[in-house]
Amino acid sequence: MASVDAPFSHGLPAGIGMTTTEAPFIEQARADGRLYIEQPYELYSEENHETWRQLFSRMVPLWERNANRHFLKGIEQLCLDPNAVPRLEEVNNFLRPLTGFSAKPVSGYVPGYLFFDCLRNRDFPTTITIRRLDKLDYLPEPDIFHDIAGHVPMHTDKAFADTLVRFGECARTAAEIVSAISDHDEKVRRLDSIIRAMARFFWFTIEFGLMREPSGELKVYGSGLLSSVGEIEYCLHSPDVQRYPIQLEWVINQYFEINHYQEILFIVNGFDHLFELVGELEVWMKEGKLNNVSGGEPVVNKEDLDSFLTAQVGA
Ligand SMILES: [Fe+2]
Repeated sequence: MASVDAPFSHGLPAGIGMTTTEAPFIEQARADGRLYIEQPYELYSEENHETWRQLFSRMVPLWERNANRHFLKGIEQLCLDPNAVPRLEEVNNFLRPLTGFSAKPVSGYVPGYLFFDCLRNRDFPTTITIRRLDKLDYLPEPDIFHDIAGHVPMHTDKAFADTLVRFGECARTAAEIVSAISDHDEKVRRLDSIIRAMARFFWFTIEFGLMREPSGELKVYGSGLLSSVGEIEYCLHSPDVQRYPIQLEWVINQYFEINHYQEILFIVNGFDHLFELVGELEVWMKEGKLNNVSGGEPVVNKEDLDSFLTAQVGA
């Protein structure tokens, strides 16, 4: 017998919406303390799908002109539907055989160590809500467009995927290093500096990195840029942006602000280059060179610190 509850799911009416900051499903998951969740696909509203459609269609020509070649190949390989919010399961069916990575749905912010540890295990914490249709350029927090259209296409590339895993190993090394420090204040002080260095490095590469292609052209690979209709061309062409070949000592000491277009960006020569740099970051960490990076943004919050302090490492 068909149940009267058939069109309902999770106690919520189908199509109620999965809009950023307005999704009852997410509020409930957070209230229950559930960080890792499933994607309740039937809850997306028509408006949510329309948002995806509009975001995707306006980015396609911008990607063709400005995105790095690995991203463009990845977009093809993932067979993303331009007309509907993607089902993570379907994305993963294309992605997993290529690099072992998969998109893992989460209910919100993933504290630092847990985030990096997911990467180490080839899981990418993925937001499943989508921004409001009437505010396409306002992003109070990451959404599924940023995560799936901005990040995941590059996870199809082996060198990039291996780089993310290496970030995860770096975080583990950080947790191991500080676990050996007995003085609590010193442990927290050093961890604060190491996390700030890692967050800056991640920001100026994975989120806002530029790449010099073998042809000599400058292209975008940072996901914050690849998911921004305004910044993707601004970052490459505006005279107000400074663009420099990446230098580790600079990046780890360079503050950043998240509420405006970036004024300083760093260029890598490819994902093999990036992979080497993350390895170097780990060596520097072991040598103590991340213990006293310059102050300023980003502020490391208690949740991030605690995630490292309570990490199960060693043994
Ligand atoms: Fe991101």
